[in-house]
Amino acid sequence: MVWPKTTARDAAGQLVIGGVPVPRLAAEYGTPLYIYDEATIRAQCAAYREALVRHYPGRSRVVYAGKAYVSVGLLRLLNEEELWLDVVSGGELQFALAAGFPPARIVFHGNNKSEDELRLALAAGIGAVVVDNHYELDLLERVTAEAQRELDVLVRVNPGVDAHTHAYRRTGQVDSKFGFLIDNGDAQRAVGRILAMPALKLRGYHAHIGSQVFELEPFVQAVERLFAFGREMAARFGVVPEEISPGGGLAIPYVSEDPQPDIDALVRVVAEKVRRAADAAGFPLPRLGLEPGRSIVGPAGVAVYRVGAIKEIPGIRRYVSVDGGMADNIRPALYGARYEAALANRDGPADAVVTIAGKYCESGDILVYDARLPEPRPGDLVAIPAAGAYCLPMASNYNLAMRPAVVLVREGQARLIQRRERIEDLLRREVELER
Ligand code: LLP
Repeated sequence: MVWPKTTARDAAGQLVIGGVPVPRLAAEYGTPLYIYDEATIRAQCAAYREALVRHYPGRSRVVYAGKAYVSVGLLRLLNEEELWLDVVSGGELQFALAAGFPPARIVFHGNNKSEDELRLALAAGIGAVVVDNHYELDLLERVTAEAQRELDVLVRVNPGVDAHTHAYRRTGQVDSKFGFLIDNGDAQRAVGRILAMPALKLRGYHAHIGSQVFELEPFVQAVERLFAFGREMAARFGVVPEEISPGGGLAIPYVSEDPQPDIDALVRVVAEKVRRAADAAGFPLPRLGLEPGRSIVGPAGVAVYRVGAIKEIPGIRRYVSVDGGMADNIRPALYGARYEAALANRDGPADAVVTIAGKYCESGDILVYDARLPEPRPGDLVAIPAAGAYCLPMASNYNLAMRPAVVLVREGQARLIQRRERIEDLLRREVELER
């Protein structure tokens, strides 16, 4: 199912999400508009939580990867769902703090954290830093000494696992900018250094293999590598991991033909592997960390656009241009990501095959090739599902596009959680205007 779980059609054929007709939202908040279905977000959070309860007897945590989409409204909701949060920049961290997200439940990731970012994290009382490289250890030594504070850390290792996903979304193979390599001894040296720094408390090992991963086997392999490394470290330094985290990365369906990855199945196989591996190593059951982004918010989001110009290239294709495009969703242009679309203001047989084009000045600005819809007309509303992850956070002001408004819908009520960007927001940076 590529649509949020509350999606329906009313008697007039209008698309309804969270009990609210989409055309009403478009009229009130304008387009492009991103709609998030609260019930779907909460259901995805519950699916992870409940699967962990079902399959894992030890402690666990679900850490939401904020890069998939952050807003204050979303963070408050995820806080209620008792998720943790992974941030990858000072910006995301400050955003989370502004939203009142508990710093002790924030984990800091990144392959080039700056000294200032680490200082900020330490001052905020962040839950843990996932250390990526030796330079970062140099910085951490300095900032913890300066602040006279202790810090929980996990070591991110490069597990050398191929996740079989788009090259830009692979992170766990040997040739990667992320994590400490085991093969050349970097990861082993990192553990040795951390153990020698009294301010750093080594809590465990982390790996992230990639994103939009359909197969479960690579996650199991990542756990295997983490334990193999854990055993080596136990033998060498006598240190036992309190936490094991195989990261995030579970895929979601974008088009109806995509398989439907199962959160319960992922958690079951990972949990089982962790239990067996801990048993074999003679380690107490570690805390199991999972770090999903896309699978929490992706299925909950729908992008809504209004149709404008329609252009027929005889015998080739029909371009149906909408009022958004690569500025709010760069995924088709960047990864060749596929989406499907539906009309939101009326229903009917999907007997037209059209190309949904964005409005920005680039030929590659196409949202959907060969979308099947009822014959679109100017003024129609086009809705694209599975738009909840990695669209808005990668949005730009290309062509000085204003970033879209975002509404959260639930049981017939809509709440604006991010207003549309305005020209004043952009002009505010223009120093010359103030002179
Ligand atoms: N943990 C770490 C360390 C990560 O780097 C990521 C994603 C996640 C967790 C969450 O992965 P997820 O569950 O969302 O797959 N912009 C790309 C995706 C980039 C993913 C980056 N890291 C896209 O639009 O497909």
